[in-house]
Amino acid sequence: MIVAIDGPAASGKSTTAKMVAKKLKMTYLDTGAMYRAVTLALLRSNTDLDDYDSVCQVVDELELDIYDQGSKTVVKLDGEDVSQAIRSMQVTENVSAVSAVKYVREAMVEIQRNIGKKTNCVVEGRDIGTIVFPEAEFKFFMIADVETRAQRRQSDLLTLGEERSLEELIKDLKIRDQKDSTRSQSPLTKSADAVEIDTTHFSIDEQVKLIVNHINSKSEQRKKYGK
Ligand code: DC
Repeated sequence: MIVAIDGPAASGKSTTAKMVAKKLKMTYLDTGAMYRAVTLALLRSNTDLDDYDSVCQVVDELELDIYDQGSKTVVKLDGEDVSQAIRSMQVTENVSAVSAVKYVREAMVEIQRNIGKKTNCVVEGRDIGTIVFPEAEFKFFMIADVETRAQRRQSDLLTLGEERSLEELIKDLKIRDQKDSTRSQSPLTKSADAVEIDTTHFSIDEQVKLIVNHINSKSEQRKKYGK
């Protein structure tokens, strides 16, 4: 079974998806972390993002590993644990450009589909319900107003020791929203059959409860009526 959770940056997807996966005893897959790891690899190798062949070469050669460990997602790049490094501001500033590259997307989508074939997953990203798993049994699209998202991002960054003003973060988020929603490759869009959840005034626990209750009641209905 696949539960797809899509939405813009800092809409609360990660924490919610992680907790939903735990409650439903499913694997959690953070696809944004995969695009972040590719971005880190490209930055470390000083690859010019406009040099398509070099970008493809780095993607072909990198070894990416992503798995749950307790309540944490571990991301390994060529054997090195980069779970913290992929959250830096430098990676965040470049990840939209990297994730817009067709070759990068195709490589990541293939890995995501292979993981989804092997295990029941709660998959979080931008194009999960539309492109990666259009047949997902459950689809959610999470949104929140940009000020709330900036506040969430600010606290996340503080835990990494990075201090940023709210104004700056609001500006960054707006730029990223614009890039993610208007790119030609798998833009951020709500799948027609996804349930939209505005998390602006919700606590994490409320969001989790809403999704889990929805899945449980729909599963009951499907069992009963066969759809
Ligand atoms: O969710 P996040 O902020 O960690 O995602 C990082 C970037 O990766 C985001 O700017 C868009 C991109 N992304 C994507 O294009 N497709 C996905 N399925 C997940 C993330």
